[in-house]
Amino acid sequence: MDRKGIILAGGKGTRLYPLTKSTSKCILPVYDKPMIYYSLATLLMSGIRDILVISTPEDVKNYSNLIGDGKNFGINVSYDIQPTPDGIAQALIIAENFLTNQPSALMLADNIFYGDGLESKLVESSMRDSSTVFSYEVHDPERFGICEIDGNNRVISLEEKPAKPKSNLAVTGLYFYDSDAPQIAKNIEPSDRGELEITDVNIEYMKSNNLYSEVLNDSYMWIDAGTQESFLMASNYVKSVEDKTGMKILCPEEIAFKKGYISSDDLNKIAEEYSNSEYGKYLKKLIA
Ligand code: G1P
Repeated sequence: MDRKGIILAGGKGTRLYPLTKSTSKCILPVYDKPMIYYSLATLLMSGIRDILVISTPEDVKNYSNLIGDGKNFGINVSYDIQPTPDGIAQALIIAENFLTNQPSALMLADNIFYGDGLESKLVESSMRDSSTVFSYEVHDPERFGICEIDGNNRVISLEEKPAKPKSNLAVTGLYFYDSDAPQIAKNIEPSDRGELEITDVNIEYMKSNNLYSEVLNDSYMWIDAGTQESFLMASNYVKSVEDKTGMKILCPEEIAFKKGYISSDDLNKIAEEYSNSEYGKYLKKLIA
């Protein structure tokens, strides 16, 4: 069954105030693209062609003005709202009707993943029956969901922002679930911070011995661009890779074109519309 994608671009982004006082965090630029393009690109790379974007009642129109119905990427994009920021796991409940009992990939719109071989890891994970999280070694494990894994990459312990972390392996903001995820999310209780925690959903999968961790080693980059520091780091990182290679990274129009989701005529139309920007010129070059 085809996996469907969910991008959660919720919350008020108060850690970036005043930057996000009048606009949504994931509309802001990470170097040459709006932040949400990176999650869109990641789901496209995974082969997902039906995506629900969830945001706040105030911000959802900004995302639909930017991404539209997905035609520019050869996919379907629809929208829903999270009325109040009640946790990442709530996105699975909001998405229940959209998912129509199909497996899902939930991605936080402020997460950025990059590295050689990422696409094949994503496609493999998407085809796996068990659910998958992506983990990454960090030096500040108190800030994240933290997991331990066994020799077969099964998750054997999981804690949200532990005071005494059992490992340095952070669970990143990309989750591949089987079709049970909305039901599991409905059965968990809000945490002390009043949120439906995605870690609690993952714990349920772990308990049924059904949670696999794809470890992204240090040849990959993972950034949670939620703080001033990591937001700038993300832009610097993308610029430095693109300067070195002369190619854009995580460019959703390019991925859609290379996967054959859009034709060169389609790409040309977008390139014409963006012809004043470097981004448009880059798309134009892809056609040639
Ligand atoms: C959330 C999750 C956490 C995960 C992190 C990744 O944290 O709760 O488990 O490691 O995203 O970005 P939050 O951003 O809500 O603090």
